[in-house]
Amino acid sequence: MTVSVEPTGGRAASARPAESGGQGATQELRPHAEDAFAAELAALAGQDDRPRPARWRLSPWAVATYLLGGTLPDGTVITPKYVGPRRIVEVAVTTLATDRALLLLGVPGTAKTWVSEHLAAAVSGDSTLLVQGTAGTPEEAIRYGWNYARLLAHGPSRDALVPSPVMRAMSEGMTARVEELTRIPADVQDTLITILSEKTLPIPELGEEVQAVRGFNLIATANDRDRGVNDLSSALRRRFNTVVLPLPESADAEVDIVARRVDQIGRSLDLPAAPDGIDEIRRVVTVFRELRDGVTTDGRTKVKSPSGTLSTAEAISVVTNGLALAAHFGDGVLRPGDVAAGILGAVVRDPAADAMVWQEYLEAVVRERDGWKDFYRACREVSA
Ligand SMILES: Nc1ncnc2c1ncn2[C@@H]1O[C@H](COP(=O)(O)OP(=O)(O)O)[C@@H](O)[C@H]1O
Ligand SMILES: [Mg+2]
Repeated sequence: MTVSVEPTGGRAASARPAESGGQGATQELRPHAEDAFAAELAALAGQDDRPRPARWRLSPWAVATYLLGGTLPDGTVITPKYVGPRRIVEVAVTTLATDRALLLLGVPGTAKTWVSEHLAAAVSGDSTLLVQGTAGTPEEAIRYGWNYARLLAHGPSRDALVPSPVMRAMSEGMTARVEELTRIPADVQDTLITILSEKTLPIPELGEEVQAVRGFNLIATANDRDRGVNDLSSALRRRFNTVVLPLPESADAEVDIVARRVDQIGRSLDLPAAPDGIDEIRRVVTVFRELRDGVTTDGRTKVKSPSGTLSTAEAISVVTNGLALAAHFGDGVLRPGDVAAGILGAVVRDPAADAMVWQEYLEAVVRERDGWKDFYRACREVSA
């Protein structure tokens, strides 16, 4: 027998923010993508006349436009969410319309989680069917659990069953998300094999199954650095199309990403817009890239790399913290002193080895660079 799972209504119950489009201050500290960008999604849906796969809110073309940004025929501007190669987004979106699941792979801070959330929001209108992968993720988090009070009172029944986000996505034809798949123990990961290959989730206790309806698919993210912790079994890997999210290819691209995100986050924190922040953003990005690459931008000086990843995401948080410092304790203009401590915190993870790497970089590169005197002084102050 096949049974269906009741839509939970959990989302309907959560209040919509008063403003949308990602521009306004909302009550939620961090609204879901489908709420923050509700206006853009509605505009796309309204003008999208291309064919949509079963239960998709938008056509694949419109989903890609939502992620990459663009201007609609009526002039509505869609802000870019992901800044990177168009082809990557096209392959990712197309995969979701096939019977293969999508695996987003990359080093930390390459927007895997971010892209996964926005894809689910654009395709299914709901990014919340999410399983967070950890070393302790149990099978129930992927399959289903039981409400023990009901189980004890009435025995196993549909009423006592607590569906996982994946089960709900299957029965409602939605996009499920699994974060950090390779942190999940291998035997628990393998729960996904039947789901992804047979598109069914058996419930042996009830002699029933939940069959996925059209529109169901799954996006997993996995960290390159976790490789070797819990590798994907080859059986499971075959169910996925893998898309690797790269680090930003140029300094300009990375500055653009950081500036955009800092602006959005600053608004949501009600920070005043900073007038000349871009110079300081460029400096943070330059420092991060040089340390990451092990060589200065001009290719002349070799530098050692610290143990941390110094990802774009970390650059975003260094600049956001700097802006908050400038707003609350300065004159609102982002200055070297506002980012120095943040950079130091991101670079020096290991107090011994990384501190040495940083000192060397400071003396050999920062000190000698034209126009970096203030920054050098600010760094010396926080390093002391
Ligand atoms: N190429 C990019 N385009 C847009 N935003 C990016 C990009 N790379 C990083 N980010 C930003 O970095 C932040 C962290 O990304 P996240 O998805 O948490 O990284 P990951 O899951 O890969 O570790 C997000 O706020 C995202 O906006
Ligand atoms: Mg992530």
